[in-house]
Amino acid sequence: MDMQDAILSRRTIRKYQQKPISRDVLEQLIAAARLAPSASNLQPLAYLVIDDPAMLEPVFRLVRWAGYIAPHGNPRDGEKPVAYLVVLADTSIRASGFEHDAGAAIENISLLAWSLGIGSCWIGSVNRDELRSLYKIPDCYTIDSVIALGYSAEASVAEEEAGSIRYYKDEKQTLHVPKRKMSDICFINRIG
Ligand SMILES: Cc1cc2nc3c(=O)[nH]c(=O)nc-3n(C[C@H](O)[C@H](O)[C@H](O)COP(=O)(O)O)c2cc1C
Repeated sequence: MDMQDAILSRRTIRKYQQKPISRDVLEQLIAAARLAPSASNLQPLAYLVIDDPAMLEPVFRLVRWAGYIAPHGNPRDGEKPVAYLVVLADTSIRASGFEHDAGAAIENISLLAWSLGIGSCWIGSVNRDELRSLYKIPDCYTIDSVIALGYSAEASVAEEEAGSIRYYKDEKQTLHVPKRKMSDICFINRIG
């Protein structure tokens, strides 16, 4: 898959095949995050890889899925993530303002994963206190996001927004993700 295909076809995936992702591939995803742009090149981010089968369910209980269609977007048993990446920001390196770095790193991860057939869900709705105590995450790390991963087991398509940006499922359970129209967001040489 070339880069343009990956960017245009990548969609958030919330249902996954129950096939493990190799440790080598998980490390490739972190290696892609490592090379993302970083303000002042401070590189405050670190990553906790969770692929221990015994820990997948405890982590699953700490994240929330697809708010617009809840609970219909929740992965059910047999569809749940097979790995998680917890994106951490070391506040001793950068106390605040690391979110742009996190966005760039997470997009690198999502796109590389997608090009390998792996779906991902960037999750901001996380019970951070519980996750911190589950993994004894030191106080110097802020939990920015969690990325759920697994080989894709659902279809999701982007479409032009027509009155609402709320994603929805059709009768075949395909997810439709409205994107704002180019004419509403792209201004050339003048605004409006
Ligand atoms: C900062 C951020 C936080 C998100 N948090 C969640 C979340 O908590 N749960 C979830 O199911 N999806 C979450 N998403 C995924 C968005 O719902 C998804 O990106 C959006 O609907 C557009 O779909 P697309 O990624 O397929 O283009 C998040 C995305 C971003 C960028």
